[in-house]
Amino acid sequence: MTPTWSIRCLRALDAAQIEGLVDVLIDCVEGGASVSFMHPLTRDRAVAFWRRVAHGVAAGERAVLVAEDAHGLCGTVQLIFDLPENQPHRADLAKMLVHRRVRRQGLGAALMRAAEATARERGKTLLVLDAVTDGDAARLYARLGWVRVGDIPRYALMPRGGFCSTTVFYRDLGGP
Ligand SMILES: CC(C)(COP(=O)(O)OP(=O)(O)OC[C@H]1O[C@@H](n2cnc3c(N)ncnc32)[C@H](O)[C@@H]1OP(=O)(O)O)[C@@H](O)C(=O)NCCC(=O)NCCS
Repeated sequence: MTPTWSIRCLRALDAAQIEGLVDVLIDCVEGGASVSFMHPLTRDRAVAFWRRVAHGVAAGERAVLVAEDAHGLCGTVQLIFDLPENQPHRADLAKMLVHRRVRRQGLGAALMRAAEATARERGKTLLVLDAVTDGDAARLYARLGWVRVGDIPRYALMPRGGFCSTTVFYRDLGGP
């Protein structure tokens, strides 16, 4: 089936894109995703987060990929390049978010592949991320060939409280 969305890497985040990203982030937290924020996530806190991200993009410290469909922005993922000087070959992958209205149609996988392609274009050969242990995202990463390093118990809180364990994954882009 032809995808109903398109994915691109933003050179800068404008006000409308920040609003769309705020909607996606709030939807994910409402849906119970452990993505750094506690529930309820106010619009002000979400806007402040994406404005910081926008500064990071402007400074070349991050790449933000977004997916859009006929209804607007529906997914996003980030690459973080702001790492110690002895890790110029590496990026962290973060804030992989798909709006609930378009889940389970392959957009998560498409965003991951696009992020990996962007990382390669920027000369990165190693990606690292963490995800809630045994959650939807961890299953997606394992399916896409990411290597599971291990679990850290009681790493973070779920948005409505209660500890969750995190699983660290890496992807070697430098291999054959
Ligand atoms: C994790 C997340 C990004 C996955 O996004 P997604 O767009 O649903 O991902 P995909 O559609 O590629 O894959 C999800 C499932 O749909 C299935 N699927 C994909 N295309 C499909 C299709 N056309 N028909 C039926 N099922 C399909 C996949 O096989 C997968 O199944 P599984 O969960 O049983 O393994 C999304 O659930 C999300 O945003 N969660 C909240 C935020 C979050 O936790 N982010 C991760 C931070 S580390």
